[in-house]
Amino acid sequence: MPKDLMVEIKDHFRERLNKYTRKAFKMLPNLEKPRILDIGCGSGVPTIELAKLCDGEIIGIDINQSLLDKLNLKIEEEGFSNRVKTMKCSLLEIDFPDESFDIIWAEGSIWIIGFEKGLREWRRLLKPNGFLVVHDEIKTVSNKLKKIPSYGYKLIDYFSLPEDAWWTEYYRPLEIRIKELYMKYKNNPEALRILRKYQNEIDMVKRNPNEHSSAFFIMQKS
Ligand SMILES: C[S@@+](CC[C@H](N)C(=O)[O-])C[C@H]1O[C@@H](n2cnc3c(N)ncnc32)[C@H](O)[C@@H]1O
Repeated sequence: MPKDLMVEIKDHFRERLNKYTRKAFKMLPNLEKPRILDIGCGSGVPTIELAKLCDGEIIGIDINQSLLDKLNLKIEEEGFSNRVKTMKCSLLEIDFPDESFDIIWAEGSIWIIGFEKGLREWRRLLKPNGFLVVHDEIKTVSNKLKKIPSYGYKLIDYFSLPEDAWWTEYYRPLEIRIKELYMKYKNNPEALRILRKYQNEIDMVKRNPNEHSSAFFIMQKS
């Protein structure tokens, strides 16, 4: 099985959720050439979407260099090399100067530091009145909404994805593709081991469907 096949397949289905990235971005006012930090960008499905949505400069950070390498290829293919860059860096140790960014974008990554700590630590990176957009699990949403002002942000808007969005748009088609690959690689133990790992992840989602509901929080530094 080609080395990056699963990342490519996952990205392909992940792109189906870009409509929510677009919806969140459109809740921001028009900014001219915004400077954006995409935290935990991974292989950059949302990063590339952001580059299509605006004429800004984007820096994607992640600790996984092989995912950043995938994103670097996409940046080149899409012709964004002059304004989209990646950097291997932990979101726990971001050391850009204060007030570096107009927008911080974080899809699927704030849980690593914790919602409250992320809000607290990332605030200094935003220019005055800058925006923080977070896509996070919906768990404890009312608590999160309540906490936002105490960390120095105004809530601009918030929306949850349809409850079954992750299942119907991402995990179900991924599972169908994995089943096809099981057949194709049935005599390849290494491929089967990798496929089993992804299938286990899907089985976990099936067992706890509610844990995979998510929401966007669109905030402004106050
Ligand atoms: C769920 S993925 C989200 C990827 C992308 N933002 C998206 O929505 O498709 C979480 C990402 O966080 C990255 N990550 C995990 N720990 C990290 C850390 N300490 N610092 C930076 N990135 C981290 C992972 O490598 C992974 O790419």
